[in-house]
Amino acid sequence: MAPSLKIFKDSTHTPTSLRIGSRLDKYRLTGRLGEGGFATVYAAMDLVEDRKVALKIPDSRHVANAQSLDDLHREVRIMAKMEHPGILKLKDARFIDGHFVIAFPLGEETLADRLTRRLSRATAMDYAVQMISAVAYAHQKSVLHRDIKPENFVLFSDQVIRLTDFGLARIETGGHDVSGSGTLGFISPEQAMGKPTYRSDVFSLGLVIYRMFSGAVPDYPFDSLPAFNRFRKGMSRDFVSIIKKSIDPTPSRRFRDAVAMLNAISKIRYPLTDRSVTLTGDSLPSAMTRRAA
Ligand SMILES: Nc1ncnc2c1ncn2[C@@H]1O[C@H](COP(=O)(O)OP(=O)(O)O)[C@@H](O)[C@H]1O
Ligand SMILES: [Mg+2]
Repeated sequence: MAPSLKIFKDSTHTPTSLRIGSRLDKYRLTGRLGEGGFATVYAAMDLVEDRKVALKIPDSRHVANAQSLDDLHREVRIMAKMEHPGILKLKDARFIDGHFVIAFPLGEETLADRLTRRLSRATAMDYAVQMISAVAYAHQKSVLHRDIKPENFVLFSDQVIRLTDFGLARIETGGHDVSGSGTLGFISPEQAMGKPTYRSDVFSLGLVIYRMFSGAVPDYPFDSLPAFNRFRKGMSRDFVSIIKKSIDPTPSRRFRDAVAMLNAISKIRYPLTDRSVTLTGDSLPSAMTRRAA
């Protein structure tokens, strides 16, 4: 067993309240990017590296709670072992002045923000392939994400998209998890019932991709696909059937995990009928490594 975060916690510090302009060791907070249930994400300047970063800082009342501290520690450990161009890289995680600070490279916006503006099909396809390959990597490492949705993908320059927020992620051990947490709207029927598996991540990923191309999100129980004609416009039949298969309401009819989904994708040469995007079994991984941070 690795040491618990608790032993790194400096109880001599009463955390100061954070404001824009506050200093936390080498970081200066410059803006607020997001506020979740338990953490605030700030834009900040790393004054040593002279680079912009995103700092995820859990509210101090959660850091005081042993259970949340364990959850946080799990999130950080999982992100620390992910090394993939499609997964947001952890830069730093430690206590500073009583706050637990998790640092990441700063992205431009989330996929959810980006989806409010027009997206070309070629760009959406480029994103889709990067997203599938990122989730395939996590699954290869036995990590279930459990909260795949547009807000948890961050965009960078050169059309790079990265998955983040492994706050609900678990190492798959084969046992069933009783928790049904995840985000309503993108979670699979079985995850809503408390039984998430790799197939549930495949479902959420398929739904996000469906949303990118169609502008619509199917509703529970997912037996009809809204805006289907818009979705498949200009798309190869094979790609359409891969996405349809990944969002089948019955888990056993989907791909077993994102690795299997990526394998199916890699057999397609032209996912769009205008041939604006070319995929080959070989170029798929190399197209991904050229984006290494
Ligand atoms: N590296 C980043 N660059 C830019 N924005 C980010 C970054 N990380 C997070 N955000 C913003 O903060 C929000 C919350 O971050 P996230 O890690 O998903 O935490 P939460 O657990 O609160 O959902 C994201 O949806 C996004 O808007
Ligand atoms: Mg999130």
